[in-house]
Formats: sequence, C-alpha cells, structure tokens
Amino acid sequence: MADNKPMRLWGGRFEGGPADALTRLSVSVQFDWRLAPYDLLASRAHARVLHRAGLLTDDELQRMLAALDDLDRACRTGEFRPTVADEDVHTALERGLLERLGSLGGKLRAGRSRNDQVATDLRLYLRDHVRTIVSRLVELETALISQAEENAEVAAPGMTHLQHAQPVSFGHQLLAHVHPLSRDVDRLRDWDRRAAVSPLGSGALAGSSLPLDPAAVAAELGFDAPAPNSMDAVADRDFAAEFLFCAALIGVHISRLGEEIVLWASQEFRWIEVDDAYSTGSSIMPQKKNPDVAELARGKSGRLIGSLMSLLTTLKGLPLTYNRDLQEDKEPVFDAVDTLLLVLPAVSGMVSTMRVNRAKLEASAPDGFALATDLAELLVRRGVAFRDAHEAVGHLVVWCQVNDKDLGDLTDDELAKVSPHFAPSEGPGGTPGVRDVLNVHGALAARSAFGGTAPDRVRDQIVSLREIVDGQAAWASES
Ligand code: ARG
Repeated sequence: MADNKPMRLWGGRFEGGPADALTRLSVSVQFDWRLAPYDLLASRAHARVLHRAGLLTDDELQRMLAALDDLDRACRTGEFRPTVADEDVHTALERGLLERLGSLGGKLRAGRSRNDQVATDLRLYLRDHVRTIVSRLVELETALISQAEENAEVAAPGMTHLQHAQPVSFGHQLLAHVHPLSRDVDRLRDWDRRAAVSPLGSGALAGSSLPLDPAAVAAELGFDAPAPNSMDAVADRDFAAEFLFCAALIGVHISRLGEEIVLWASQEFRWIEVDDAYSTGSSIMPQKKNPDVAELARGKSGRLIGSLMSLLTTLKGLPLTYNRDLQEDKEPVFDAVDTLLLVLPAVSGMVSTMRVNRAKLEASAPDGFALATDLAELLVRRGVAFRDAHEAVGHLVVWCQVNDKDLGDLTDDELAKVSPHFAPSEGPGGTPGVRDVLNVHGALAARSAFGGTAPDRVRDQIVSLREIVDGQAAWASES
C-alpha cells in the first residue's frame, strides 16, 4: 500500500482504473475522516459477532481486536492518516488494518457493507455529539437563569411590535429565552430515542446470509435495538434530517437572543453593556464597540437553516435503498455540529458577562404609556365594560400627548375632565385609586398568576428551570 495506488474496496470486476474526474468527485475522506473513531467501534463489535458465528478463530479475533486498538491509537496520535488515494473513511481504515494484519484484515468486511457501516457511523457520531451540544445549551441556559435571578425585580419595558407595551420583570424576559432552549434540549433527547437504532447487519440492503447477530452488535454500540428492516436501515436519513431541524431551531432561538442583545447594547436602548471580552472594535472609528458575538449568533442561523434545506433536498425523491446521493448527508451534519459548538460557548460567555443597566431599564419601563392597560383594568374592576374602559383610557393617552404629560402627572380635575370614569380618583368599593395603579412595580406584582411577570412568579420559574436544567446536564454526562 505504500505505493500510494488508489485504495478501492471494489476493484475486482473493473478492467481499467477510474477517471481522475470520477475519483475527485467520489472522494469523501477529506470530510468523513471524523467518523473514524466510530467506524472502529463498529468494527470491534462486528469482529466479535464474526467470531461468535465461527467465522473468526479465537486467535484471529484477538489479533483483529489488537490491530483495531492499535489503529485507533495511531489515528488519534495522527500517526495514521488518510491519503488522497483513500476514497472514504472505510477505505482508509481497511488499508490500516491490512497494513497491520495482512490478509486477515480482509476478513472483517464479511457480512457488512459500507452502506450499513456509514449509516451506523453517522448515528454513533451524532448521538455522541448531541450530548456535547446539550452540555453547551445547559451552559447558556444557566447563564441566562443567573442573569434572570439578579434582575427578577428590575422593571423593563416589555414590547410587542418593538413598541413599549407593558412593563415586565427583566428577569422574566431573560427566562423567556431559556424556555425555547430547554425545549431544544427536550427535542434532542427525544431525537436520541429514535436515533438509537442500529443499522449494522443490514449489509448492502438485504441483510446477510452469514449467521450474524444484529441485536448483539446494537447492544454493544449502545443502541436500543437493531433496525427491523434492512432496506429502511441503509436508506433512512431521518435521524440526520431531524437533527438538522433541531440544530436549525436552536439557530433561530439564539438568533432571536442575538438580535435582542444587539438592540439592548445600542446607544438608543443602553439596557446592557457587553463585556469587552465579547466585543470588537472598528478599524476606522476608534470609539466603536460592537456586539459581534450577538451578530454572529444571528448570522450563523442562516447556515444552520441552509444545512437542513440541503439535506431535505438531497433526500427528496430518492428510490430505495442506498444511493450515492446519501454521501451528501455528512457535510451539512458536520457543519451544523461545528457551528453549534462554536457559537454556543461564545453566546454563553457574552450573556454571563454582560452588565445590565438597571437604572435605564427602570426609568424606561413606564415610557410610552405602558401602564394604560392597568388603568383600563382598574375601571373594569369598578364595573365599567372593558370596551368603554379601553376607549376612556385611549382618550386620556391622547390628552396626555397633546398636553405633553405622563399618565402619572395628571391631577384629579384633569382626570375627571377626560372621563367621569376616572372620578373619583380614589376608588369606590375598596378598589385602588387611579394613581395607585400607575405604578410600575405595582403593575408587575399584580401579574401574579402562574406564568405571569410578578417577581415572585419569576423566582418560582427560576426554581423549576434550575431543576429541569440539572436533569438535562445529568443526561448529557451519562454514558
Ligand atoms: N462514502 C460513502 C457514503 O458516504 C460510503 C458508502 C458507499 N457505498 C457504496 N456502495 N458506494 O455514503
């Protein structure tokens, strides 16, 4: 093999060698090499099954396993590397085995095909990496929860349509970014249940005439069960598409957080300051400090969504079973894994180090007549139909705008002039007075039903989220 002749697993029936253009098109080892540790795991399991089937002697099994261990070591140290002449990871590793074992190395291919191998390798790779991704999501959730805890009492302008709507606890808003991430983790755990099916034993498409034991291989590789249909097993890439959907949705979630951070850090908002360690400067404007981490988080969602589209388009309309089109499954999957593992730690670091400008948030919370709904709801408690209350408060807002006043500045006379509903300003029947509800912290505390923005409810949320996140961390680190 040292002569660097193209290493192929299918030379027997061909007279001439492949055209250079075919070789260049066909080769995947430059990106599928990262499957090597998983291919070697599957090879060990396959060797044991061949041995139990009487197809390898005790001695052959021992030599095979020792060679696979040595190859694994050599791959990890970089002593064994794929060459341009290896078509794919399976080809390169068979070369490594032949180099170590001579013709015994050629026995391992019995009863398996690259079709069931590659499907197995990619599942193993993803199940492993999904746990790392979940650990990174847990770090981001934890960073957001810690900031929420420190800002549970801080009133902030809550928005719809990017316009001031009603005051909220800033902690509540931060936790609103944790829940989507927590659902992402849930989705990945649920994904893992469906991905835990082993294709190995399906061979090229029809299974094997050799007495293999797919259930034993599945168990050894940590799968829950072997695939019940060999044709589906080699053709199915649902696990890859589903993973990419999960990754794309994580991308969407961190892009929404990224967008908010960009806004919050702007001169116009000044709600937060991003730490220098997570900011960049401008090559021409010396005063600039830019929230590039947040922007990249927003930008990376584009490629995550693109990877999902790419794979779905590849899969659409493929006839059963394996088709070479399926080689295109790997790059989008690897890119999505790399992207998430790159972006999540940066976002977590940015969130945990950002400084919240509480004074600015508190001062802006009532702006834009954000307590108007509280006033309308007060009238409802006094027996006014909401429709009429809405109208009366609407008039009051216009009156304030024309006279350049805030709701809280109005005198009893002014209130009574706009609508009799506002008189007396002190509430009849034990209801609070008009001015009592025009108070941001009162407005927050009043929203105390489950799921509301009252600081007490925010603290309850933090307690239950911490428990959920602890469970997620434990899942990621088990096995
Ligand atoms: N490199 C191939 C892939 O990624 C491995 C399977 C090739 N199988 C085949 N019959 N040509 O899908």
